[in-house]
Amino acid sequence: MIEQSDTKAAYDAVAGLYAELFGDVLKTLPMERGVLAAFAEMTDGPVADLGCGPGHLTAHLAGLGLDAFGVDLSPEMVALARKAHPDLRFDVGTMTALDIEDGALGGILSSYSLIHTPPDDLPVVFAEFERVLRQGGHLVLGFFAGDDPEPEPFDHKVTLAYRWSPDTLVVLLRHAGFTEIARMRREPHEDERPFQHVHLLVRKGCGDTVQIP
Ligand SMILES: C[S@@+](CC[C@H](N)C(=O)[O-])C[C@H]1O[C@@H](n2cnc3c(N)ncnc32)[C@H](O)[C@@H]1O
Repeated sequence: MIEQSDTKAAYDAVAGLYAELFGDVLKTLPMERGVLAAFAEMTDGPVADLGCGPGHLTAHLAGLGLDAFGVDLSPEMVALARKAHPDLRFDVGTMTALDIEDGALGGILSSYSLIHTPPDDLPVVFAEFERVLRQGGHLVLGFFAGDDPEPEPFDHKVTLAYRWSPDTLVVLLRHAGFTEIARMRREPHEDERPFQHVHLLVRKGCGDTVQIP
C-alpha cells in the first residue's frame, strides 16, 4: 500500500522528466484523441483534468473549446503545467478531497491518475467525482487494463500502481452513480509497457440514453 505523500514525492522527483517524455504524447495517440474529441463534443461547463501532471491534456481540452483547468497532487507538476500553459489554471490538490463546489463541473478527465490509488480508496475518489459533477456530466477515465477481476499491482517506474479490469471499474462506478456510455481498449505500442490501455466514458446519473448537447 502506498500513501499519498509517497505518490506526491515520487512525482515531484520525476516531474521534469515526465513532462519531457509525455508532454507531446497525444500526437502519437489517435485513439485517445478520438475519445477526448467525443468527450468535448458531449460536454459543456467547466472541465477538470484531475491528476493533470504537466498539463498537456488540460491544454488539449482547452484547444477543443472546453473551459478546462488542472489539479494535481504534485506541486512540481503544477509548477511545470503553469509554466508551459500560463493562460490556464492549475491547482495543487487531491482527488480524494477536491476543493470544488458540489455540481460545479460539466466534465472530468482522469488520465492514468488513479493508477496509484490504493484500491480501498477508489470509492472515495469516485464519490468525489460524483459530488463535483453536475447531473449528466461526463467522466473519462484512462488506465491500464487487467483481466483479473481484482486489481493487479505492478512495478510502475514512478511508484507502485494497479491495473484494473474495466468491468470491475464499471461496477464501482455504477455504485457511485455513473452509467457507462463507451469504452475504448487498445493494444500497447512497441515502446509502452505490455498492458492494454482503456478509456471509459461514463455519465453521472442512471439510464441508457446518450445525451449530446
Ligand atoms: C501517470 S501521471 C498522469 C499525468 C497525466 N494525467 C497524463 O495522462 O499524462 C499521474 C498523475 O496523477 C497525479 N496524482 C496521483 N494521485 C493523485 C491524487 N490523489 N490527486 C491528484 N493527483 C494525483 C500524480 O501527481 C501525477 O501527476
